[in-house]
Parts: sequence; structure tokens; C-alpha cells
Amino acid sequence: MSSVAIIGGTGLTSLQGLEITGREIMQSPYGEPSGILIHGTFYGHEVIFLPRHGSGHTIPPHKINYRANIWILKEAGVSQVIAVNAVGGIRKDMAANCLVIPDQIIDYTWERNNTFFEDCTSQVVHVDFTDPYCESLRQQLLQGAAAANIDVIAHATYGATQGPRLESTAEINKLERDGCDIVGMTGMPEAVLARELELCYASVALVVNRAAGRGNGIITMEEIEQNINSGMVQVRKLLEHTIPLL
Ligand code: HPA
Repeated sequence: MSSVAIIGGTGLTSLQGLEITGREIMQSPYGEPSGILIHGTFYGHEVIFLPRHGSGHTIPPHKINYRANIWILKEAGVSQVIAVNAVGGIRKDMAANCLVIPDQIIDYTWERNNTFFEDCTSQVVHVDFTDPYCESLRQQLLQGAAAANIDVIAHATYGATQGPRLESTAEINKLERDGCDIVGMTGMPEAVLARELELCYASVALVVNRAAGRGNGIITMEEIEQNINSGMVQVRKLLEHTIPLL
């Protein structure tokens, strides 16, 4: 059984290079996960793959059952999770196709089930979230990037917005003032739920557009799709060089 899972985001609903060895339907006490767990070998190493938006990319960010997804990964024996996230670039150097390994998060989402510890009868739990991503896994991703000869940005703050709409320019200005470098809709509460279940969790963020008001004109789905297609090639290469290090 693999202890490494990859949660695929937009543009990564299936993992090219994954030789599938099994499919596992898992139930969770929190409802339906995004789909079945795909077991396989990725360049000789066992991994579990879960597409966050469902296998047909039908679940929008605010409807994803993050608790069910993280719970079934834990239940399947996973200890390390690499999350792939498509994001908008806020900081000047966060251009389309950049790969970013964020080290901080600001959460702007609302009305998402964001804890496993909500039951009043259980002990009150406040997990530490000083460093929201698992530093050892982040370092392994950076080593994987170096081995693959891929440029990555090693420090960034991820602003998690509610979606599914993109932001206004004023909202991005506010996020920038807050210190956000990239913006996406799926980073939270996934990261904190992983922390609550003591999973080592890190993100590979692919910039697929300049954030609102930071590029030329409006953001189109065509632009995003084009950048996803080219950028995911790099993401796969990074995963290929990182998985053997785990
Ligand atoms: N904003 C929020 N989420 C995103 C963006 C964006 O500009 N691009 C991709 N996911």
C-alpha cells in the first residue's frame, strides 16, 4: 500500500504516467469524497491519486467535500500528500506557467466544513498552523525540482478565495496588501484538514493566469486552459523527480 498521495487539481484529473493497479471505492463519515481512489505506480513508485474536482472535473471548489477526501486518504494509510493547485499570479514574478511551492496561507473562504473537531462532546482541539505546509515535503519538492532542472519559486503566500468566480481587481489589491503572492480556490480547508489528521501535506501551485488587474484585460478560460496544458507537463516532471525522494 502506498503512503504517498497526489491530489490532482484543475488540469490534473488523471495522472499521465500512472500505471493503474487498482481502484478503491471508499466511504467516509463526512459524506461522498470527490471520487474513488486510484492506486498505481508512477515511474516505479506506488502512489494513490485522487482528482479533487472528480474524474470528470464536475465539482466546483466550494462544493468539494474536503473532509471526505482527506479522511479517505488517511484511512487508506497515506502519510504524505502532494496537492496540485492551479492559481492566479499576484506578485510580479508569478507569471503564467510558473511553478510555486507555497509556504504560507491566508484563508478567505467561508461556509466550508473546515474541521474534523466540530463535535461539542469531544475535547476542544486547536491544531498548530504556524507553518501550514509540511516543511520536509516542501524541501523534497524543491529537491525534485532541482533534479528535474525545473525553476520553481520556493516561498509564497497562497490566498484561498471562495470562488467559483474569479476576483475583482480591488479584491486582488487587498490580497496583495495582505501579503498574498498567489490566489486559488482549493488550498483551504484542504491544508488544515490534512494537518488535523497529521498528514504531511504540501502544494505544487501552477500559475495559470495573472490575477485580476495584473494582466492585460480580462481573464479568459481559453488563456487558463492553454496555460494548464503546457504547465501540467512541468508539474508531472516535477512529481516524477520528487516521488522517488519520499
Ligand atoms: N483566482 C482564483 N483562483 C484561481 C485563479 C485566480 O485568478 N486562477 C486559477 N485559480
